Amino acid sequence: MPSALYQPLATLVGDEEDQDDQEQLHYYYQHPQLSAGEKLPPPTLGTRRSRSIAGNRRRVWLLLLVPCCIVFFYFMFSPQSLGLGNNNTNWDAVDDYLPHNGIDSTNTHALNESLMICSESHEDRRLFMQDKPRSAYAQLPVIYFVTPTYPRREQIPELTRLAHTLLHVPRLHWLVANDRDRCDKFLDNMLNKFGIPFTYLASPMPSKFRNTKPAPRGVANRRAALQWLHQRNLTAGVLYFGDDDNTYDLRLFSEIRQTQRVSMFPVGLIAEYAVSGPVVRNGKVVAFLDSWVAGRRWPVDMAGFAVNLAYMSQYPNVNMPFKPGYEEDLFLRSIGLRIDQIEPKGNNCTEILVWHTQTKNKKSPTVRIDSALLNDRFNLGALFHSLKVMGVASASDTEGPRAVISKNGKGKPLSYFLS
Ligand SMILES: *[C@@H]1O[C@H](CO)[C@@H](O)[C@H](O)[C@H]1NC(C)=O
Repeated sequence: MPSALYQPLATLVGDEEDQDDQEQLHYYYQHPQLSAGEKLPPPTLGTRRSRSIAGNRRRVWLLLLVPCCIVFFYFMFSPQSLGLGNNNTNWDAVDDYLPHNGIDSTNTHALNESLMICSESHEDRRLFMQDKPRSAYAQLPVIYFVTPTYPRREQIPELTRLAHTLLHVPRLHWLVANDRDRCDKFLDNMLNKFGIPFTYLASPMPSKFRNTKPAPRGVANRRAALQWLHQRNLTAGVLYFGDDDNTYDLRLFSEIRQTQRVSMFPVGLIAEYAVSGPVVRNGKVVAFLDSWVAGRRWPVDMAGFAVNLAYMSQYPNVNMPFKPGYEEDLFLRSIGLRIDQIEPKGNNCTEILVWHTQTKNKKSPTVRIDSALLNDRFNLGALFHSLKVMGVASASDTEGPRAVISKNGKGKPLSYFLS
């Protein structure tokens, strides 16, 4: 099997040989034992003949040497001898990579679809934040994006997805408040790597609420964020409560950044109407559309409003009580909101810029895998280690449904991998 390594070596050897070969033969033929510049004595017949015989012998030796060198270099530097190839050639494995007499492809046919292309663009028109220096955004108010989060198997994927939205947004400080009684190295590392300015808080729900139904989820986290803003005396910028599982349109950030007191906008996929938001008339909020009123003056979703910090700082008793379902209402009451002050966003509340998407919650499984497969001979040990750190899944030798490990469509016994 010719390889990239073999090719250049062979040409290199060949090229040098060709050149040296000619130069050297030429040299030896004319000046067998003299350095250049020395004058040759007038040759006799005999010496001339012996010289030319010696020259021919050298030429033969050199001609023999060239292929030898090539063969030698090939075996020295072939991918196999360098350990780059598959050393432990296993016929079973080789068999798998051969085309199986075409059996796999006889059941299928070449694609022959009639396409209905609705639209297409080959022009990359994206605007990247990096197109401008950070200083170009320096005058924009900072958005304090508060994300309550809690350990569960979907936590890391949700935060990853949210981070990749926030990576597009300039002048944003991400407050990640985790429902855990201690700081977590993994989360800390992960948040650091995104490069977004952030504060990571450990803000567990007080134990007395843990067993109440419904539990006031995310409240301790938002309270911690409010406390942090107060402690840092942050009285400029915009506060927004953005859960880790929502979907955010990037236009939302441009809209809420201009909030003077409190801005509001519809949220998609809320409860029975699949929407919750203000009713707007002549550019003013006059009422609310939400399927669960329950006496709330401000029947809005947590993701449906933003607050200017200069405005909020005028209300020292800003609060968010532990009262499930009433967090938004009681928070907005604590900052003295009046309906005529509300700034409708999203084109007078006609557009959805945020969606209350929810990921299915499932318990993180324990997968039974023999410990012989979890050592460093395979990837599975390290893979399940990282899944455990992220709270996604764990592997056990004794518990859980046995993991099927298959090859060519068939589950294989442990012995197959250990032999
Ligand atoms: C909202 O409605 C008001 C009154 O009709 C109008 O003046 C204003 O331009 C509208 N705003 C937007 C962003 O469309």
